[in-house]
Amino acid sequence: MQTSTDTIESQSNSGTRRRVFSGVQPSGDSQLGNYLGAFKGWGDRQDEKENFLCIVDIHAITVDQDPEELRRQTRELAAMLFACGLDPDKSTLFIQSHVTAHAEACWILNCVTPIGWLERMTQFKDKSTGLDSVSTGLLDYPVLMAGDILLYSAHEVPVGEDQKQHVELARDIAQRFNRIYDELFVVPEPVIPEIGGRVMGLNDPSVKMSKSYSHIRGHAVRLLDEPKEIQRSIMRAVTDSENEIRFSNDPERAGVNNLLGMYKVMTDKIESEVEADFADARGYGDLKKRVAEVIIEGLAPIQKRYYELMDDVAELDRMLAVSADHARQVSEPKLQEMKQAVGFVLPDHSRS
Ligand code: AMP
Ligand code: TRP
Repeated sequence: MQTSTDTIESQSNSGTRRRVFSGVQPSGDSQLGNYLGAFKGWGDRQDEKENFLCIVDIHAITVDQDPEELRRQTRELAAMLFACGLDPDKSTLFIQSHVTAHAEACWILNCVTPIGWLERMTQFKDKSTGLDSVSTGLLDYPVLMAGDILLYSAHEVPVGEDQKQHVELARDIAQRFNRIYDELFVVPEPVIPEIGGRVMGLNDPSVKMSKSYSHIRGHAVRLLDEPKEIQRSIMRAVTDSENEIRFSNDPERAGVNNLLGMYKVMTDKIESEVEADFADARGYGDLKKRVAEVIIEGLAPIQKRYYELMDDVAELDRMLAVSADHARQVSEPKLQEMKQAVGFVLPDHSRS
């Protein structure tokens, strides 16, 4: 007899690739940290992992936003992710609101999630502090995120450190549902990337490079920056008063470490190879020049592909519609199992 764990395993593995789910907010201009810490790795690993990558527009409306801006940024992010190497034949990159199962799963999971679990979330505390009015959606944000992950029976959830608590909550919700109703859910693991996991600000290597500060001059390299601008930002990057080009954990040397880390991920080299590349370098000026070069070279084909995709929005929308169909095929059966488990009468589709 097949155990319920076997059943879950087989559902979550359509082929031999382990299933990965991640989501990205359609806000702001993507920056180099997004590429090196997330997008690049998703593309590089799409032959070995079965990727589901979701542009989370339903999450985006939990805080104030401009509707036209959200629509524009959603398409821009989709084009950027395809341009960064996500192949629609290998990865499923889709828009969250295209798959209504996400909102439905959120409702069912809301009903097994104690409200205290949500009030404890540090992101909720950070985002709600100082606001005159806080939406119910903002509190509920992590339950929607749990639904995203659990609908796809994902084993792995690559996220930044700041989202780890939300993935742990998704695990708790999965286990609670499994206990109360039926063993339906794979309990997912957060995966925090080591390489490129934290690309730091160029102006201040003690803070993570982020979209939220990309308006500050010299903080970030945006993926659509022109070569001249990239060069200028890198040349201005904060370093230190020593003159040694090697990896280091010393906070005083975080600027140089950050530049070397960018070079390492851009070139797919290991640390010793990177240090060997700079053995003949004359000072930090040389280091910065070469780091800027590999970034400019690496981003050029991405920018070209991005503008091609944005020039043909009808084609982009068609690609997204195909992915959404696939996402629906995978998530809908799980939603039906959830409905069955909690006691809903499933609609009779035999007449349609
Ligand atoms: P966000 O821009 O915060 O919505 O993040 C989207 C994805 O990019 C997440 O997987 C983040 O972990 C990743 N990411 C964002 N900024 C950085 C950074 N500075 N270094 C490494 N990864 C990052
Ligand atoms: N909350 C995540 C962030 O801000 C985005 C996200 C939504 C997500 N749903 C997800 C990430 C599911 C991983 C899995 O970065």
